[in-house]
Amino acid sequence: MTVFFIGAGPGDPDLITVKGARLVEQCPVVLYTGSLVPKEVVARANKDALVLSSADMDLEETTEVLRKAHEEGKDVARVHTGDPSIYGAIAEQIRRLDDLGIDWKVIPGVSSFQASAAALGQELTLPEVCQTIILTRMPGRTPVPEKENILELAKHEATMCIYLSISMLKKLCNQLKTIYPADYPIAVVEKASWPEQRVIRGTITDIHDKVKELDIRATAMIVVGKVLGKTDFNDSKLYDKTFSHDFRTARCPE
Ligand SMILES: C[S@@+](CC[C@H](N)C(=O)[O-])C[C@H]1O[C@@H](n2cnc3c(N)ncnc32)[C@H](O)[C@@H]1O
Repeated sequence: MTVFFIGAGPGDPDLITVKGARLVEQCPVVLYTGSLVPKEVVARANKDALVLSSADMDLEETTEVLRKAHEEGKDVARVHTGDPSIYGAIAEQIRRLDDLGIDWKVIPGVSSFQASAAALGQELTLPEVCQTIILTRMPGRTPVPEKENILELAKHEATMCIYLSISMLKKLCNQLKTIYPADYPIAVVEKASWPEQRVIRGTITDIHDKVKELDIRATAMIVVGKVLGKTDFNDSKLYDKTFSHDFRTARCPE
């Protein structure tokens, strides 16, 4: 018997993987993380399945659900939002399962940073402009190690996708203004892939007022980077006819 940690995707119920959806349909126990898991995904559960939200449970209680299912010989679909590997708190659950000798597997999902890039219509890695993406957060109740503080990360000028931090947008922008020019691009995507998705573009100087005006306070991704809205970049080498690689021979070798 196995506990499957399944990424439900960022909100659009069609953005769960086929594998994840099949497991939700087949597992006799479905334990999902709460209201941000689309109800259509939860509704895939078999009519005879035990379906529980873990929103009001602590770690000991969720572990008990998994332990009991194992004792009864039942597979569990443990459904998380986005991709479970990103701020999913699965590591502590896996540690408990290992202690109990219960098998587990992770089924990846579409993370909200990917859905946000899609909403922005934005490649996050423009050729020769930026080839690195940093996924991070501002410190909240969970501290962030000092070496990962936002100013250290921002020095790389990589594209940054900042989770769990919309309530600290002003503080974030004030920090970024100490090293970036005032017109440095930033965007906020609220509820990426949901029907009520909102996309706000601006600079590190004006984004806070725009977001405050729209009263955006949760379920939002902050994207910072010089790729945003940039149109004067070189084409990639991937489709360059003078460039060959393992899968395609150059028509005009260098
Ligand atoms: C606890 S984390 C979970 C992240 C999730 N595992 C993922 O891969 O997207 C919750 C944060 O993810 C971001 N988030 C989740 N869903 C989102 C969405 N549909 N649009 C924008 N941001 C989202 C927000 O920053 C939110 O504060």
